Order: sequence, then C-alpha cells, then structure tokens
Amino acid sequence: MSSRLKFSVVGTGVGGGFISGAASTLAKEGLLELAGVVARNPAKTEAFARKYGFRSAYTDLNEMLRVEKPDILAVSVPHYMHFPVALEAIENGVNVLVDKPMCINLREADELIRRAERRGVKLGVILQSRFSDTYRFVKELTDKGGLGKLILGEAVVEWYRTQEYYAKSGWRGRWATEGGGALINQAIHTIDLLVWVLGEPARLWAKVDTVGHDIEVEDLAAAIVEFKNGALGVIQASTATYPGLPTRLEIHGLKGTVIVEGDELKSVQLAEEVEGLKPPARKAEGLKSWERPEAVPLENHTRLLRDFVEAVVEDRKPYVDGYEGRRSLEVIRAIYKSSSTGEPVNLPLKE
Ligand SMILES: NC(=O)c1ccc[n+]([C@@H]2O[C@H](COP(=O)([O-])OP(=O)(O)OC[C@H]3O[C@@H](n4cnc5c(N)ncnc54)[C@H](OP(=O)(O)O)[C@@H]3O)[C@@H](O)[C@H]2O)c1
Repeated sequence: MSSRLKFSVVGTGVGGGFISGAASTLAKEGLLELAGVVARNPAKTEAFARKYGFRSAYTDLNEMLRVEKPDILAVSVPHYMHFPVALEAIENGVNVLVDKPMCINLREADELIRRAERRGVKLGVILQSRFSDTYRFVKELTDKGGLGKLILGEAVVEWYRTQEYYAKSGWRGRWATEGGGALINQAIHTIDLLVWVLGEPARLWAKVDTVGHDIEVEDLAAAIVEFKNGALGVIQASTATYPGLPTRLEIHGLKGTVIVEGDELKSVQLAEEVEGLKPPARKAEGLKSWERPEAVPLENHTRLLRDFVEAVVEDRKPYVDGYEGRRSLEVIRAIYKSSSTGEPVNLPLKE
C-alpha cells in the first residue's frame, strides 16, 4: 500500500460534503489522493468532484470501485443504503467509513462488522463529535473521576425542522429509508456521547411520537435509561420543538456537574479540582447545527478521518470502529422497541 491512500466517497449531500472537505485537507497534507466520487445526478456529481478535487465522478459504484481501486470509501448516502453500499465495498477489499447511523438496524450493523472482520478491512463510523475538544474534555474529566460517582446524564436534542425539510427529500421521514426520525438522524451524536461517557446501558423505557410533521417516523421522543454503573440517563429528542435549541449534554456526579451546550462548555462545577486537566479554550462562535446542519465545522470530521487513515496505515482499530458505531444505534433501536411494546427493554439488544 502506498503512503498516499486513495480515498473515494459515495454521496454528495451535506454528509458527503463534510467528509470530502476533511479529505481535501488531508490530501493537501499529502496523506490522501482523492480518487472517485459517486452519486446519481451526473452534473451535480461532477461539480462536487471539481469542488473538492476528486479525479473523477461516477454514477455507478461498481465501476468506480473497479477503475479507481480505492483504499478507503466513505459512505454518505440515505440511511437504508449504508448497508448494501458498505457491504459491496467490504467485499471488494476496501476499508469503509460509513456515516451515522451505521445502518438502520442491528442485524445489518452486526453483519457489516462480521464481514469487515472476515475480509480483513477496517470499518469506521462517522460520529465525529467524539473528536471535539469539548467532549474529549468531558470524557477525560469523567474517566478521571472528576465528577465523582456518575449519577445522571441528559442528552437533549430539541431541534426544529420544517415540513418542507421532509417533503423535499425522497428518503427522510420514512421507516424504510431513514430508519427512524429525530433519534436516528439528529439526536444520534448526542446519544453516542451519552453512552461514551456513562458506559453500558442495562435497561431503558421510552415513548416516541409524531406530533408536528406529516411523516411516518418520530419527531418527538423521550427515554429513561438505566446504566450498568447505576447512573440514570434521560434522552429527549425532537425536530418539532420550535424554534430549535442548542443541543445539550449534562453529566452529573456526586462531586460535580458538567454541561455542554451546542459544543460549548457551559458549566464545569467541581467539588474538588482535577490535577492536570484544563477546559478547552472557548470558541469565537457556538455551533448553529440546530438551525443549519451545514454549519458544523470540519475540524472534527478531519480528526476522525485522520484517525481512520492512520488506522489503515498502522493496521490498528479506528477510534470509532463498528462496535463503537453500533452503540448509539443499539440504544435507538431499543427506544423504538420499548415505544412500540410499551415495555422496558433490557440491553444488550440483538436483532
Ligand atoms: N456526520 C454528520 O454530521 C452528518 C451530517 C449530515 C448528514 N450526515 C449523514 O450523511 C448521509 C447522507 O445525508 P445527506 O444529508 O447528505 O443526504 P442528501 O443530501 O439527501 O444526499 C444523499 C446523497 O446520496 C445520493 N443517493 C444515491 N442514491 C440515492 C437514492 N436512492 N436516494 C437518495 N439519494 C441517493 C444522492 O445523490 P444525488 O444527489 O446525485 O441524487 C446524494 O448525493 C446520512 O447518513 C446522514 O445521516 C451526517
């Protein structure tokens, strides 16, 4: 394998733009060669290739795989296509970085993990918030016991999306193609952070509803999670909460509280100081992703992609591998199950 890995992407929407922007940065550093981009609309795909510096544009995945022989394929297409597209690449011996949610159910997610292991390729999931300075600080603080015994975590994603947001998309708003709504699309990053910090969930009880849009999937959800370490978690997610508020993650322990709002550290209150741990510098402007998804800065995507490239070169696990990527999906699938049965659901969950 040459030192410059060949990178290709499927999908030219917001998600494809993020990961391709990150790939452009790494290409300028000499780490990647931007090979092919694949989508449906030829003119749009060519314009995308020119914008980010890809060599060629394709409308056929298999042709691109055959001609370009990429080392890494990023998959950023509608949710229901993650599984077949990622599987095709894996079977062609390509390392795959699949956007969130990893798949639309755990059966597919487990199959991707199994097939990537069998084929000996890396599988990563684009959950880039794990690379944010703010959340890294929260993780380190809680891991070092800075909050004492963890007792409560809150993941709150109260966003607003218009009916037009769903109406103009052919795949959003439907179970078969989006795989869910506010939870699986918008709140998944914050749910991922909650389980990253609080650990393995043991049981949850949830209710989801559709209250503000003409869609099949949920635009409102609430869940209570019991974690194995005894902590409780609360998940609130919506795309119907006008006018849309910053995402919030709160972690409480017996000796402290940390609150993050819109990727900014809002509050760190500790009964005792933690040696050698400094909060990250404040950013000039907070994230506005609850208003405009494209406003998310590329820094975290670039870090995630850099880690994935290094994992391929060094033949090690990527930081967010298939098992890590599966964790938020497992919670979300358990929430859907609990809401449809009206019963608590025990974890781990298999499908
Ligand atoms: N990590 C993040 O922060 C982040 C942020 C935003 C989105 N995402 C993820 O990125 C993925 C794509 O979302 P998006 O918002 O970029 O979607 P989008 O704007 O609808 O773009 C979808 C892309 O997939 C292509 N495509 C191929 N087959 C398709 C089909 N049958 N139906 C519809 N599109 C098809 C489209 O091609 P044409 O345009 O040529 O038709 C387009 O390039 C999702 O998994 C989403 O959750 C992640």
